[in-house]
Amino acid sequence: MWGWRHTRRERVTARPWCARKGTIVLPEHIHNEAELEDVLTRPSQALVELAKTLTSPLVVLGAGGKMGPSLAVLARRAAEAAGQSLDVVAVSRFRDEPVRQRLEANGVQTVSLDLLEARSLESLPDAENLIYLVGLKFGTSTNPAGTWAVNTLVPSRLLERYPQARVVALSTGNVYPLVEVRRGGSVETDPLTPHGEYANAAVGRERIFEYAAARQGTRVALLRLFYATELRYGVLVDLARKVQAGEAIPLATGYLNCIWLGDANDMTLRALRLAAAPPSVWNLCRPEMVSVRDAACRLGDLLGRRPLFTGAESPTALLGDPRRICGALGPPATDLATLLEWTARWVSHGGRDLGRPTHFEVRDGKY
Ligand SMILES: NC(=O)c1ccc[n+]([C@@H]2O[C@H](COP(=O)([O-])OP(=O)(O)OC[C@H]3O[C@@H](n4cnc5c(N)ncnc54)[C@H](OP(=O)(O)O)[C@@H]3O)[C@@H](O)[C@H]2O)c1
Repeated sequence: MWGWRHTRRERVTARPWCARKGTIVLPEHIHNEAELEDVLTRPSQALVELAKTLTSPLVVLGAGGKMGPSLAVLARRAAEAAGQSLDVVAVSRFRDEPVRQRLEANGVQTVSLDLLEARSLESLPDAENLIYLVGLKFGTSTNPAGTWAVNTLVPSRLLERYPQARVVALSTGNVYPLVEVRRGGSVETDPLTPHGEYANAAVGRERIFEYAAARQGTRVALLRLFYATELRYGVLVDLARKVQAGEAIPLATGYLNCIWLGDANDMTLRALRLAAAPPSVWNLCRPEMVSVRDAACRLGDLLGRRPLFTGAESPTALLGDPRRICGALGPPATDLATLLEWTARWVSHGGRDLGRPTHFEVRDGKY
């Protein structure tokens, strides 16, 4: 089983900046939000190449959440680097108005609307390429009807509006049931038999995309994402903050998968070339299974704190095997050792927290 100790150390620590695999340049540390945003939105060469092929506009739906703002700016930067004239149109309710303003300041056009409103899609521009990020996860056990509406009605309307588009639609690893840790992560062909309203609505979301692909030929790539993490939120942040606060970390969910948000965004955009009818389906995360205990111990070393634990590792966990997407797009560029170091430093220096815990410890599907 792979934990952080087994990841290959590729970073050259003597220099403040270093090249990796000839395409991505990563800093030794990330000191502030401006640097963080810069790192998160730096396109890989492969993404720049893809951007050369995109017709304008690229429409990003559900762009006001945790992934969308950096993904939309990343797409803009890739187009600029490619010398491609590409409008990026970010669509969301933008309940967080400063997010909308920052997008506009970075050259992204924004459209504020509620995609559940009838006819809301009529005002959107025609487009060949869509990134679909709309979802509702937290609070869903108390609002199951709203959960199903957002996760199924919105894609249904969208696909009526854009029957000929190429769509990368974010799904989630939650569509799988818990699996035996010793067996390894779920693969894309495994049955989707999860627990809970959110996970089942996420299966419903996938089925709506499949239906549209079968009925009208819409080309779709479904990405089953496991824990995108950056420094203001994410599963490693949750662990680091518990270690720093001296809070016991529940171990029942003893293993997980994650990926740096910048890599998840870069691969999401590049997955446009994987869209197909019927939909292609891909697990999206780093290749190693992360041991919660090992990761917390490493964070403890970095933070100078001894982590506390409660319970013991269950034989099952929510895990995915991303070999297929790594084969198609190459593996995520940012290694786990670097993520742990960045996260520990950010938390120890009082970096901002979005206050959106992942609830990675939940095992009954109730979010
Ligand atoms: N982040 C992760 O680690 C992760 C892991 C697994 C799967 N995913 C999937 O990836 C997708 C994107 O992730 P995320 O973390 O960015 O999700 P998120 O933070 O929940 O963002 C989705 C955004 O969609 C917008 N939205 C929801 N309902 C809408 C409506 N009726 N009309 C217009 N906009 C609406 C909301 O932004 P406004 O408030 O601006 O409307 C919401 O913040 C989600 O679908 C999720 O299922 C994410």
